[in-house]
Amino acid sequence: MKAKLVNRVHSTIDPADPHPYLHGAWTPMFEEWDADALDVEGSLPMDLDGVYLRNSENPVHQPLGKYHPFDGDGMLHAIRFRGGRASYRNRFVRTAGFLAEQNAGRALWSGLAEMPPRSERPGWGAQGALKDSSSTDVVVHAGRALTSFYQCGELYQLDPQTLQQFGPAKWEGEGGFPAEGVSAHAKVDTTTGELLFFNYSKQAPYMHCGVVSAEGRLHHYRPVPLPGPRLPHDMAYTRHFMILCDFPLFWDAALLPKGLHVARMHDLPSRFALVPRPGTDIDPDIRWFEAAPTYALHFVNAWEDGDEVILDGYRQRCPLPPPLEGAPKPYAMLMAYTDLHSLKPQLWRWRFDLARGTTREEPLDEGVTEFGTFNRNHAMHPHRYVYSALGEHGMFLFNGLCKHDLRTGNNQPVLFGPGIYGSEAPFAPRPGGNAEDDGYLVSFVTDLNRDCSECWVYAAQDLAAGPIAKVRLPARIPSGTHACWTPGSALRHSE
Ligand SMILES: [Fe+2]
Repeated sequence: MKAKLVNRVHSTIDPADPHPYLHGAWTPMFEEWDADALDVEGSLPMDLDGVYLRNSENPVHQPLGKYHPFDGDGMLHAIRFRGGRASYRNRFVRTAGFLAEQNAGRALWSGLAEMPPRSERPGWGAQGALKDSSSTDVVVHAGRALTSFYQCGELYQLDPQTLQQFGPAKWEGEGGFPAEGVSAHAKVDTTTGELLFFNYSKQAPYMHCGVVSAEGRLHHYRPVPLPGPRLPHDMAYTRHFMILCDFPLFWDAALLPKGLHVARMHDLPSRFALVPRPGTDIDPDIRWFEAAPTYALHFVNAWEDGDEVILDGYRQRCPLPPPLEGAPKPYAMLMAYTDLHSLKPQLWRWRFDLARGTTREEPLDEGVTEFGTFNRNHAMHPHRYVYSALGEHGMFLFNGLCKHDLRTGNNQPVLFGPGIYGSEAPFAPRPGGNAEDDGYLVSFVTDLNRDCSECWVYAAQDLAAGPIAKVRLPARIPSGTHACWTPGSALRHSE
């Protein structure tokens, strides 16, 4: 391995702070690396060609008050595979908030678990006083990696291979980048090259969605009016629709004027908006569909079948869990909200009947899973396989993967091993492959036993065989949230 330490930022985090999300696999790192010719245990397939990008919440400064693991500064990790070799880089996302705190040498904004007035400067996001850390999600659109924040904010642009930074996206057309910001989980429709996105806020109409062309021009932006502030997290899309959601878990409206942002379940149905995509020849009115109350963090795929629009995602069986049993008291609520085994999400299917205006829904699996990936060549079409993350009990950590075969109902879980935690693992289709599962799953893992990190590559047709390659990274990296795979064919113009 040829590794070069490019930069190290000064941290003010107190190593004695007992917060569980500042230790173990969530221990932040402060170094930025360039590394080539990475050492490989096993063998990297010659046809694995592309870049795996993963965002992460990586705090630099001692928090102002209570810390939430989703407050940390965005750090992007990139590993490029080509010709049986791999190279790696990581960079903090140079957000306005990150740069301001670098100048100040300390934290200036409080986080999700604190009272907003504790922030020392005006903030961003739906809550209104958070630092836009751009730390939640990453997609690649028009040759640029775009990082995003789950509470809405800028989309920060980076080169997907070099991680060179180009600042916030500035769109042409329709008034430019929305003042309301953009939520995490914008989607790229690779058939049109469009970026589909949504945002949400505390001001009416409370939600918008829009479409950006393959050339980076905002050509569609419309309100999706809601009855009040809501907390949507993900969206989906089909050939003709963007699918947005209004779940009954949202801030208590009576407490908002007091500055308290307390989520609770309301006695309301779940609602899904089918928003016609521009350029389609269907009635532009939004169609709303009701479903049983729940909350869903993430969807997998959606498609159209005759009069039906079908949506797969993860329905939570317990969206408002009790405090985590056995957790240190100050962290018991936070640890329940970030514990998959408290929220109990399961793979689920919603079917919206456009002719009747009705919804049918059904479980696809009973196991606790989330953070699903699939062969995105099947986006907007029926898929057979979903690859979910398995959660560690009590902590927001992924301890394995599960391949769901929706045709047979078989599940193939694989565990990484004790003390080894992975990332969201996108599916990298094998060039020239025909079968839906002919490809690779790629995940960063952090091994607390050996105090190191690697990138593991699995053959998706045989997860039980274990990783076919383990690629050593130059440093131990912390856990994070979302990741994406971009094939080499979509990167060529930036080389
Ligand atoms: Fe997410």
